[in-house]
Amino acid sequence: MTAVRLVPHKALRTPFCEMAGIDYPVVQTGMGWVADARLTAATSSAGGLGIVGASTMNLTEMTAAIDQVLSLTDLPFGVNLRSDAPDVYERAKVMIDRGVKVASFALAPTEKLIKSFKDAGLLCVPSIGARRHAEKVVGWGADAVIVQGSEAGGHTGGVATSILIPQVIEAINVPVIAAGGFRDGRGLVAALAYGAQGVAMGTRFLVTKESPVPDQVKQVYLEARPEDTVLTDRIDGHSHRVLRTPFIDRMIAGGGGVRDLLLAMSSAVNLKRTTGMSLIDMVRQALAARRQHNYNLRQAVMAANTPMLLRKTMVDGEVEHGIISGGQVSGLITDAPSVEELILSVIREANMTLESLQA
Ligand SMILES: Cc1cc2nc3c(=O)[nH]c(=O)nc-3n(C[C@H](O)[C@H](O)[C@H](O)COP(=O)(O)O)c2cc1C
Repeated sequence: MTAVRLVPHKALRTPFCEMAGIDYPVVQTGMGWVADARLTAATSSAGGLGIVGASTMNLTEMTAAIDQVLSLTDLPFGVNLRSDAPDVYERAKVMIDRGVKVASFALAPTEKLIKSFKDAGLLCVPSIGARRHAEKVVGWGADAVIVQGSEAGGHTGGVATSILIPQVIEAINVPVIAAGGFRDGRGLVAALAYGAQGVAMGTRFLVTKESPVPDQVKQVYLEARPEDTVLTDRIDGHSHRVLRTPFIDRMIAGGGGVRDLLLAMSSAVNLKRTTGMSLIDMVRQALAARRQHNYNLRQAVMAANTPMLLRKTMVDGEVEHGIISGGQVSGLITDAPSVEELILSVIREANMTLESLQA
């Protein structure tokens, strides 16, 4: 794959670009079920940093995805992991052996995990949603952090990007990549003005040509308004931003019928097959959610099955009975360009914005 390059304004050549070996300070995040090898390779080929979403892949699938990225590009890319995966050190070995550049994490990594990646020369870039988490992972050796505000799609905290970014930048001394609500060059310049060294985008990359998400699901994002998402902990016990659908409204209300429960139970079997998570792990997770949030049985089962409910939309295209994780920025996304067109338009607009501010 060869891609066109623009000359970025010098303000866009941040130390993070140097560190990660990329041309532009634009990261495509490791979204489960979405960030496959093709999307990742397209991003890295276009000068950004692509990250494989391996939190919903088993070890064999993750290895195949890494090999596929390597066959498509020789530019740097990352892999996003669940740090609580039972085989996380086997996964780390595969990443190290294959020369993956960046380790990204869906849940805060342990100090030991960070050390094993760093000892092998990988960059550790956890995603965090609160200042104290940033301080903790930086204390353990993280090389940079993706700081994600409440506008973001997927699991995220309650503090807005515009508040969280300056708060974290004042507290730590490694590069901060801003996430939550970004889609264009003006947003990139705003992030740099806050002191960030780049932006990481999830929802924007989900609605691109290379994204594997079925067209009817992309259409839901294209039609959404900014007020059509909701941040709720009623899905799996952790605050999660999703597009609002009748299914989500039923979950939030705590109602829902036998049909929803059966759907959640049948997906449990698939989750076990896909992630290698044991039935005991799932029951434990369901019971914890039930205790912590006073959930009824249906809600508890749903909580343990969130990854499979996400799969229903992102892979099977079933909008009616699945979860559509997405940021508020969905409301501002009106097209599905190729990844290269997207990245070039972000850089072109950032260049123009910086020049006009200077003028
Ligand atoms: C469909 C979807 C799946 C996601 N899955 C993951 C994941 O597996 N691991 C992770 O660290 N973050 C995940 N996220 C969060 C994104 O990586 C990213 O931080 C977020 O989308 C940024 O906000 P934005 O959507 O406003 O760009 C997911 C987000 C979405 C929209």
